[in-house]
Amino acid sequence: MSNQLRFDGQVVVVTGAGGGLGKAYATFFASRGASVVVNDLGGSFKGEGNDSKAADVVVNEIKAAGGKAVANYDSVENGDKIIETAIKAYGRIDILINNAGILRDISFKNMKDQDWDLIFKVHVRGSYKCSRAAWPYFRKQKYGRVINTASAAGLFGNFGQANYSAAKLAMVGFTETLAKEGAKYNIVANVIAPVAASRMTETIMPPDVLALMKPEWVVPLVAVLVHKNNTSESGSIFEVGGGHIAKLRWERSSGLLCKCDDSYTPSALIKKWDRVTDFSNPQYPSGPNDFVTLLEDSQKLGRNEQGEKIDFTGRVALVT
Ligand code: NAI
Repeated sequence: MSNQLRFDGQVVVVTGAGGGLGKAYATFFASRGASVVVNDLGGSFKGEGNDSKAADVVVNEIKAAGGKAVANYDSVENGDKIIETAIKAYGRIDILINNAGILRDISFKNMKDQDWDLIFKVHVRGSYKCSRAAWPYFRKQKYGRVINTASAAGLFGNFGQANYSAAKLAMVGFTETLAKEGAKYNIVANVIAPVAASRMTETIMPPDVLALMKPEWVVPLVAVLVHKNNTSESGSIFEVGGGHIAKLRWERSSGLLCKCDDSYTPSALIKKWDRVTDFSNPQYPSGPNDFVTLLEDSQKLGRNEQGEKIDFTGRVALVT
């Protein structure tokens, strides 16, 4: 028990905490000493309707177990009201879990503006509004922890989910920027692509797989990432579910360095295409290509074994 990760005195806002993953986060943090804002609009998984019952049930469960929780029924699109609930009830906010989500799955051919817009309103604008409202508190107290929720559909694409996958990959860029802007203020932001049994997945996964995918098994990673002891893991992407946790990162091929003169034509590029896509000497970047270095490299062309002109990293120049 002594080395149990605790969250005593901290205030956690969990959006979409009326069921599924959000409920698992909320009950966990309350059981570890935190005061929790249980936000849930209580609509259908397609984003229709609203009902205060979803959040109330979880708040009552937490209180019955001796924990501290308060309900909020606003849509995440009104993130300022959700953060206000935390400030009014507990006077602070330390941890924000942007978890609320809906699905509007449909083939791209049949997608309507409403399917696209609603997904972006809930996932992207919702995460923005909650984070934006929490940000001044995080900065002022020089402490904040954010989890954003992506999806494998966002990282890899998925049939019928053009809207959802676009919104979910947006969570990655959003997180990486929050991590960079927050670093100076001890604000840590990470993004997860979870897999868990919930009303979202119960119709698409078989029962034996669902049984292996309890929402509770996503919780330990989230707890580690938002704990005050985590000061280094920020701007990171994780896949998590069924007890498996893995970190993802970008991989860049060492690439083709072209001399920017008349030799740099589409057909010259086609001839060297394998160099563009050659991952045998990869970089794992956390930022854009350093063009100053690239330009310097281009001044230092040598030759490889095939007699091709190369820079010192081995990149081939499109020159003859
Ligand atoms: P869920 O449907 O059980 O929970 C989502 C909760 O968000 C619901 O209780 C819903 O009422 C609430 N919600 C929806 N719109 C809201 C709004 N505008 N404002 C406030 N609350 C709202 O689904 P689940 O599976 O727990 O999903 C949680 C998050 O994880 C979502 O962002 C989802 O996209 C993501 N995710 C889940 C996966 C899974 O395997 N379950 C896979 C990949 C991502």
